[in-house]
Amino acid sequence: MSTCLVTGCAGFIGSHVCEALLAKGLKVIGIDCLTDFYPAGRKRANLAPLLSSPGFQWIEADLYAMDLPSVLAKVDRVFHLAARAGVRSSWGESFDLYIRENMGVTQRLLEACRTARIERFVNASSSSVYGNTPDLPAREDSRLCPASPYGVTKLAAEKLCDVYRSEMGVPAVSLRLFTVFGPRQRPDMAFDRFIRAGLSGDPIHIYGDGSQVRNFTYVSDVADAFLLAAERECPSGVYNIGGGCTVRLSEVLAFIEESLGRALNLHFEPKAAGDVNATDADTSLAHHEIGFSPKITWKEGILRQIEWIRNSQASCC
Ligand SMILES: NC(=O)c1ccc[n+]([C@@H]2O[C@H](COP(=O)([O-])OP(=O)(O)OC[C@H]3O[C@@H](n4cnc5c(N)ncnc54)[C@H](O)[C@@H]3O)[C@@H](O)[C@H]2O)c1
Repeated sequence: MSTCLVTGCAGFIGSHVCEALLAKGLKVIGIDCLTDFYPAGRKRANLAPLLSSPGFQWIEADLYAMDLPSVLAKVDRVFHLAARAGVRSSWGESFDLYIRENMGVTQRLLEACRTARIERFVNASSSSVYGNTPDLPAREDSRLCPASPYGVTKLAAEKLCDVYRSEMGVPAVSLRLFTVFGPRQRPDMAFDRFIRAGLSGDPIHIYGDGSQVRNFTYVSDVADAFLLAAERECPSGVYNIGGGCTVRLSEVLAFIEESLGRALNLHFEPKAAGDVNATDADTSLAHHEIGFSPKITWKEGILRQIEWIRNSQASCC
């Protein structure tokens, strides 16, 4: 690898992937237009350490509208993390944005890759493609039953990667990420909301009764998976990337409570449409074919996320 393109570089996971690439001494071109899905201030803070690295260049541009071939001519690997995330907000009128950001942008990038000399295109897919699959833990060949419009767009993006790989020779691979957490997590995601509200004493709204089960994946393990997928052969083309164990949400809440040393102000709300009861990943394919093994346990990861939130709150006061 010499120069890499990271789309969504100002986002939660994209900023960690940039950091991991720069730590290996690689040059990184990052593209992000700081969409309004959550405050731009959070994304500028994610970008700040990257911008002080001499190997990093940020292009502030909308991937859907920009001249992609001129950027792709300068890179040999693409890490595609730009997207409209979020399950609950994908219903209703905002679905147009999900089509544009998740399907439209992915198709335009893949189309531009046809004529560029790209050695690998690593696409951030999601466990939401499994939705309410009856096959748990989910394997890559399990039934795909997305339960939200977001999941449908992520599955479409993955299928676009498949057809551009098989019909057009674009070396695309998709990583199905299972609930990612850690420093810089998006503000709409559970751990960020729980920890911040836990520190301030604000109410925490839980959708469902807390019995839902998730496979949580620490963000540095996800960044490692992106680098492995860029370097290895990846014969299967699609891989589950999960944290190695499943945890009940109520256990997470109890651990956050214990770690903060104070009771959480919990309010239980009805389960939201599109939220699934359980996710669980079989990651043996990623282990055997690309050498992926998660290193950070969910408890260690939560402690790191709490520390990061405390430090970032202290530095902005
Ligand atoms: N966070 C998770 O738990 C999780 C789980 C599964 C899959 N994923 C996938 O991982 C990827 C990254 O997720 P995240 O949580 O870091 O999200 P994020 O919202 O923090 O990052 C996405 C970034 O993409 C940028 N972006 C979106 N559309 C753009 C466009 N048209 N042009 C330029 N920039 C654009 C946004 O400004 C944002 O900074 C997404 O593809 C998401 O679907 C995330």
